[in-house]
Amino acid sequence: MFQDAVKFGSGEYVPVEMHKVRVVQKLNLLPIEARLDAAEKAGFNSFLLQNRDVFMDMLTDSGTNAMSDRQIASMMVADDAYAGSESFTRLSEAVEEVFNTKYFLPVHQGRAAEHILSRAFVKKGDVVPMNFHFTTTKAHVDLAGGKVVEVFSDDATEIRSDKPFKGNVDIGRLQAAIKVHGREKVSFIRMEAGTNLIGGQPFSIENMRAVRKVADEHGLIIVLDVSLVSENVYFIKVREPEFRDKSVKEIMHTLCDLADIIYFSSRKISCTRGGGITTNRHDLYMKIRDLVPLFEGFLTYGGVSVREIEAMAVGLREALDWDVIKHSPEFIRYLVDRLDAKGIPVITPAGGLGCHLDAKGFLPHLSSFDYPAGALGAALYIASGARGMERGTLSMDRDENGNDVASEVELLRLAFPRRVFTLSQVKYVEDRVEWLWKNRGLVGGLRFVEEPKVLRFFLGRLEATSDWPQKLVTQFRKDFGDSL
Ligand code: F0G
Repeated sequence: MFQDAVKFGSGEYVPVEMHKVRVVQKLNLLPIEARLDAAEKAGFNSFLLQNRDVFMDMLTDSGTNAMSDRQIASMMVADDAYAGSESFTRLSEAVEEVFNTKYFLPVHQGRAAEHILSRAFVKKGDVVPMNFHFTTTKAHVDLAGGKVVEVFSDDATEIRSDKPFKGNVDIGRLQAAIKVHGREKVSFIRMEAGTNLIGGQPFSIENMRAVRKVADEHGLIIVLDVSLVSENVYFIKVREPEFRDKSVKEIMHTLCDLADIIYFSSRKISCTRGGGITTNRHDLYMKIRDLVPLFEGFLTYGGVSVREIEAMAVGLREALDWDVIKHSPEFIRYLVDRLDAKGIPVITPAGGLGCHLDAKGFLPHLSSFDYPAGALGAALYIASGARGMERGTLSMDRDENGNDVASEVELLRLAFPRRVFTLSQVKYVEDRVEWLWKNRGLVGGLRFVEEPKVLRFFLGRLEATSDWPQKLVTQFRKDFGDSL
């Protein structure tokens, strides 16, 4: 039997850390007036804030997870060779142990893998069906002249739900997409574990088996993005009865054996930097291999420092440790369930990656083109010093005619970098979100003052459409006196 959160005498299940903190980093919590000032300087874009002005950095888990003592220790024995590095051999062995695959190519991060896979397999006019797109995945498929076709189920975009596997593919839609576009136009089928943009939601092995069946019927390959697979595996064990008594490794192998090519961002899965592509098929490996020295670096480092390569090997193995992989989902569930109980709109059931506030439900008085998720992110930073990431209309680029495209969902993601925050910090965020919820009528919209054409959410600058940020500060002072 696996162990979930610890039951307290009160009957409450509390996520208790299965690690101790031995290295710490000082944090800054600025007074609210200084936070407003910092938000204005950052063009109300949380990507443009300086980290020293941020109290809780919930922007992402990418490259911000805490490393273990073993990972840091491993970095001391790195073999700094351009070619044939021992560190690479150790990483390849770890990849084989974790994903059950023979051939491995290192790349500098997840999107580099997406670039290489798109170059190798996507032709002009192709389509790539997937359970849900990720921003960088879509950008690389587009760049190669292809088009993403999402074949998610209706459950995927339902905000409040008790569906255990919202990341599942709708098999009927997948079959229809292949029929409509023609099998020869399909570059590959992509499955994203721990589906990022719908709230870190998992798919089931049952669904992956059905996708495999369709792929086999049409002679298509499946590319599996395992950047967020740890949490997906956690949810399979907790929610899919067939796998309740299976080990993490058995579940991981069952999942990976159903794919042809696997890729990952190590910034997520192994709490390091870097990324990789791995497969058991020599023919596919040969299609990709020569692109790695061209774009990334020689085959035994792929643009990644050997120190990170050593830490990656350890981090990947740790991704098979139940105590390691359960930590984030348990903390996320703690916050999600408490906000949900107060009627605050959040994505349920809790997923991996983070707590996702539903900005449409939070700020119903704003339209998609007021960028409600961006506005909620700016308001939460001002109210708390915690920065999240907008995942809504602002994260969509304009269409060919220059029109804003309303996103299906408007989310503010509060990411939980693994093993970084304590429970009292999580409670602090809960308190400030609740305050914002009570004062939600004060929050207004945003508009662009500087708008990049591609991936505009990274570097775009915005302003408030009224003086609502100042009103928020005035209300905060009324309610909290001279508190930070
Ligand atoms: N695939 C998934 C599922 C991701 O979440 C990410 C990155 C990538 C690929 C790209 O990897 O950043 O190493 O190039 N997600 C980050 C995030 C950026 O904040 O969610 P990368």
